[in-house]
Amino acid sequence: MFVGIDLGTSGLKAVLVDGAQRVLASHTHPLHVTSPHAGWNEQAPGDWWVALLAAMDVLAARHPREMAVVRGIGLSGQQHGAVLLGEDGGVLRPCILWNDTRATAQCGEFERRFPEFRQVCGNMAMPGFTAPKLIWVAEHEPDVFRATRHVLLPKAWLRYRMTGEMIEDMSDASGSLWLDVGRRCWSDGALAACGLETRAMPALVEGTARAGALDAGLARRWGMKVRPVLAGGAGDNAAGAVGLGAVTPGSSFLSLGTSGVLWLTTERFRPHPQGGIHAFCHAVPDRWHQMGVTLSAAASLAWWARTTGMTEAALLAELPDPVTQPSPVIFLPYLSGERTPHNDGRIRGVFAGLSQGTTRAQMTQAVLEGVAFSFRDVVDVLAAAGSVVREADVIGGGSNSRVWVSILANVTGLSLHRLAHGAQGGAFGAARLARLAVTGEEVESVCLPLKREETLVPDPQVSPAYAAPLARYRALYPAVRSAMDTLPA
Ligand code: XUL
Repeated sequence: MFVGIDLGTSGLKAVLVDGAQRVLASHTHPLHVTSPHAGWNEQAPGDWWVALLAAMDVLAARHPREMAVVRGIGLSGQQHGAVLLGEDGGVLRPCILWNDTRATAQCGEFERRFPEFRQVCGNMAMPGFTAPKLIWVAEHEPDVFRATRHVLLPKAWLRYRMTGEMIEDMSDASGSLWLDVGRRCWSDGALAACGLETRAMPALVEGTARAGALDAGLARRWGMKVRPVLAGGAGDNAAGAVGLGAVTPGSSFLSLGTSGVLWLTTERFRPHPQGGIHAFCHAVPDRWHQMGVTLSAAASLAWWARTTGMTEAALLAELPDPVTQPSPVIFLPYLSGERTPHNDGRIRGVFAGLSQGTTRAQMTQAVLEGVAFSFRDVVDVLAAAGSVVREADVIGGGSNSRVWVSILANVTGLSLHRLAHGAQGGAFGAARLARLAVTGEEVESVCLPLKREETLVPDPQVSPAYAAPLARYRALYPAVRSAMDTLPA
């Protein structure tokens, strides 16, 4: 029996998986983001701990017999967050999250201090990544920076609380921008550019390796007979890939979660920083991946639902099904800035083309289409990097909407597979990593593809109609950028 834990942004999810890879139980405890200033996004690590205890307590209460024989626990986590710890191991300030854009100016500074950065770390510096955040802290909160002895990513902090050990896996470590991604070790040059040394960093392991044992008191609390092993685990996207079986080079998936991700597994380190493509380690040994990220995917629909006072389901129910022509309204989903392809933390969203006749349904459709256009940008940048994606499994909360997935197929030109268990996401992949750490089985024999429910292909009657709105969408970015440059910050 194995447990997978996914520390997400909107909730922490724990799943119980048996030896036949069946998900026997799942519990999610909600999490909230605080935004003390525009563009800032933070969470208190203490809230993650409360969520972990709550989710695991529920599994233990409902499934005592299965929890008694858990042998391994895998962790998946939201990437790039900076958890700063002092001398006594205590948290010094709230975690600065992956979608926080305060460190925009520090990105240029980071690259200036370590000019080989793009070759070594394989990426552009982006404000959501961990490294520029530490330069921001050094500049704006010097007392906190001086007191910092360790920097952990979110799930590494959970592991620290669960095992007492500071250990990180390669996939999540890549997103810090302190990893030499090709060599799979910390980069002294990247760390020095932020005033840090390797001793501030956790030990590195592969996601499939053993990485600590659960604290005896916690094992007792959850009725476990022996202390389970923790696996190295993965960043949430790599965990999603493991859960989908996207471990062989060329396999891909599209995640419609809070953020949107198009992922491609690669046989080697293949950086393409100029297009805003991320090139990171996979969670399994000797594999890497490329991915493009749109920061507000399902987060755009969630924002629109909050703004209209409607539920997402009620908004979606107002749309024609299927959607056979583009909305007259264009939406730029840059609510938290954008990574691929623009790497622009300061850009913000826009609705364009509103008229007296505009309906709420047209605006909802525009939101879904805007996210789809941003994925189309990612598809095209990947293709320019020589990575042509033609099909992808779809995961994440947004994949429950068939209408949205069909719009995505028509806009991106991809064939998209909806999965029978798409919503399990990173937690299921984390449970697979736990199994690999315990049993030492072959990666491919455990990371099997998931059952596909249906495939949505681009409709030749509808897809061509998106060419003109796509061109309008693309023309709007530079216009909005220059309009924003004329406004006070
Ligand atoms: C990936 C990224 C997001 C978070 C979401 O680079 O920032 O997908 O991992 O949890």
